Amino acid sequence: MKRSETEGKHRMSTANNNNVSDRQPLPPPTPERRFSEQAHAELEEIASHYPERKAACLPALWLAQREYGGHLTPAALQEVADNLGLSYVEVEGVATFYTMYNTRPRGRHHLEVCTCLSCAVNGAYDIVHKLEHELGVHLGGTTPDGEFTLSEAECLDFCGAATVMQVGDHYFTQLTTENIMGLIDELRGSENYTPAKLADSIVKILQPGSSLTGGGSYTPDSLEQPAGPML
Ligand code: FES
Repeated sequence: MKRSETEGKHRMSTANNNNVSDRQPLPPPTPERRFSEQAHAELEEIASHYPERKAACLPALWLAQREYGGHLTPAALQEVADNLGLSYVEVEGVATFYTMYNTRPRGRHHLEVCTCLSCAVNGAYDIVHKLEHELGVHLGGTTPDGEFTLSEAECLDFCGAATVMQVGDHYFTQLTTENIMGLIDELRGSENYTPAKLADSIVKILQPGSSLTGGGSYTPDSLEQPAGPML
């Protein structure tokens, strides 16, 4: 999703936002390098299927988002640029254009609540307000302990199972103000469903020859609603 599509909604409720604004310029990159041997091999495999290396910028950014623990630091952007023969500015321009790339730190769990029509009429905003109250953050904010970032999301394509929330590489469905905090308690301290795992899932999908068509996400047992493919 392009960043401009969600800015209007986010502007409505970002008071007391604990995050550094996504609009602030990124600091200059440091000479850090975090691509593992495996990441380099994956990048070479992916890039070999494009006519030019620079065309692999999007998958390379997913690789970087995984290797850098869930968000793209300036050093991550520089490492992608160096690997693909692009300038830093070219890579930064791509990374800041799409909301799925995190150019600022996110909580260990990024709670993305769908607030489109079907979810909205099924109480999505009640859930958002409950999360804001219970976690002490507004939309776009991150809890002081770094566990949760709360965001709105456009339609997550499970309208029949509203209300839906994406957390990393999983979707959680049929959420209500009654069951949402139980899920939050499950997530707290969990190593699953992190932004880095989402990036890893997408890297696997992007591997040429992959038979995967989506994230393979499923709800927890307590929320028995199978999830479908994630684009
Ligand atoms: S409206 Fe929420 S998943 Fe479609």
